[in-house]
Amino acid sequence: ASNKKLLILAGDGIGPEVMTQVKRVITWFEKRQGLSFSVSDGLVGGCSIDKHGVPLTDETMAEAMDADAVLLGAVGGPKWDNLPFEIKPERGLLRLRKDMELFANLRPALVFDALAEASSLKTELVEGLDIMIVRELTGGVYFGQPRGIENLPNGERRGVNTQVYTTSEIHRVARVAFELARKRGRKLCSVEKANVMESGLLWREEVTKLHGEYKDIELSHMYADNCAMQLVRQPKQFDVIVTDNLFGDLLSDCAAMLTGSLGMLPSASLGAADANGKRRALYEPVHGSAPDIAGKDLANPLACLLSLSMMLRYSFDLGKEADLLDKAAQEVVAGGFRTGDIMAPGCTKVSTTQMGDEILKALDRLAV
Ligand code: NAD
Ligand code: IPM
Ligand code: MN
Repeated sequence: ASNKKLLILAGDGIGPEVMTQVKRVITWFEKRQGLSFSVSDGLVGGCSIDKHGVPLTDETMAEAMDADAVLLGAVGGPKWDNLPFEIKPERGLLRLRKDMELFANLRPALVFDALAEASSLKTELVEGLDIMIVRELTGGVYFGQPRGIENLPNGERRGVNTQVYTTSEIHRVARVAFELARKRGRKLCSVEKANVMESGLLWREEVTKLHGEYKDIELSHMYADNCAMQLVRQPKQFDVIVTDNLFGDLLSDCAAMLTGSLGMLPSASLGAADANGKRRALYEPVHGSAPDIAGKDLANPLACLLSLSMMLRYSFDLGKEADLLDKAAQEVVAGGFRTGDIMAPGCTKVSTTQMGDEILKALDRLAV
C-alpha cells in the first residue's frame, strides 16, 4: 500500500471528463516515475444527490479527512439548481472546505508564453504574467451567521448573509500569503473594502500588524473595486494578492481571463500545518461544471491537470515531478494543440481526450 492516500471526487458536468485525463497522468507517474498512490473514488455534488439524496455523505467526508490529498473536478448543474439550498451540489464542496478547515485557497494565474495572445487583453500586458491570488476560503460572507431567507410581517421576504472575520482568521491566511510572497517577488497586496466595511477595516489593520514580522515583504493595500480595475489595466503590478472569500472568488475568475481561459486555472486549498508540517489539502480547477459543453469531450483538462501538479508540489514535495507536468502542459500548448476555449488560427483543435493524449506524449518525451 502507498503512503500517498488520494481521494478523487470527479463531481458533475465536465468534472469527470477532465478527471479522466488526470487519472491517466497519475497512472503514467506510477508506471514511469515509480510513484505510488492509493487512489479511491467518491461522489460529491449532483451525482451524490442522485445516489444518496445529499451532496456529500458523512462517509465521503470521513474519507476526505483521512486522505493525504483530495482532487476535485467540479460540482453543480441545471439539473440540481432548484433544490433547497442546504442540499444543493455546491454545499458538498463548501462542507469539504469548511470541515477540512481549508482556509487558504491558492489560485495562481500564470500566462503560458504560447497563450499570451489568447488573452482578452493586449499581449504585452499579460506576457510573462505570474500572479498568485490567496483567497480566504472558510470564512466571510460564505459562512457568516445570521443567514437565511425570512418572511417579514409586512409580506416581504428578506435574504440575509453576514460578512464576518476574526483576527485569527485574518492572521492565518495572511501568513500563508506573506510566506508565499517571500518565495516569489516579495510583494503582497491586501485587498478589502476598508472604506465601507468594518470587517475590511479589521482586515487591513491586522494585516498591517502582521507585516511587522515580514518586513522584507513590500505590503500594499487596495480596495477591491480598484483591484478589479487594476487587474485588467496593469496586471503585472501584482505578485501575491490576499483577500477575503467573496472578493477572492470574483478576482480569481477575472484573473483567469488574463491567462486566456478559465480552463487554464488550477487551485490548491490548504489547511493548517500539523507538527510534521503536513497540511490537509484539496486541489481543484477554478472553473465549474460547464454545463454548456459537458458530455461532449470539449473541455480543457489543463486546469485540472495543473491542479494535480500543485498537489505533487504542495502535498507530496514532488517538485521535480510537478515541474515535469507543468512543462508538458506548456509544450503541448506551444505545439499548437488547443481545446476550443484557447483555440487560435493555425492551431490544431483537440478534444479533452486528445489533449490528454498529447500530455502523455509530451511526458514521455520529457522524461527521457
Ligand atoms: P463554469 O466555470 O462552469 O463555466 C463558465 C464558462 O466557462 C462556460 O462557458 C464554460 O463552458 C467555460 N468553461 C469552464 N471551464 C472550462 C473548461 N475546462 N474548458 C473549456 N471551457 C470551460 O461556471 P458557471 O457556468 O457559472 O457554473 C456552472 C455550474 O458550475 C454551476 O452549478 C456553478 O455553481 C458550478 N461551479 C462549480 C465550481 C466548482 O465546482 N468549484 C466552480 C464554479 C462554478
Ligand atoms: C469556486 C466556485 C464555488 C465558490 C462555488 C461552486 C461554491 O465558484 O470554487 O470558485 O463560490 O467558491
Ligand atoms: Mn468561483
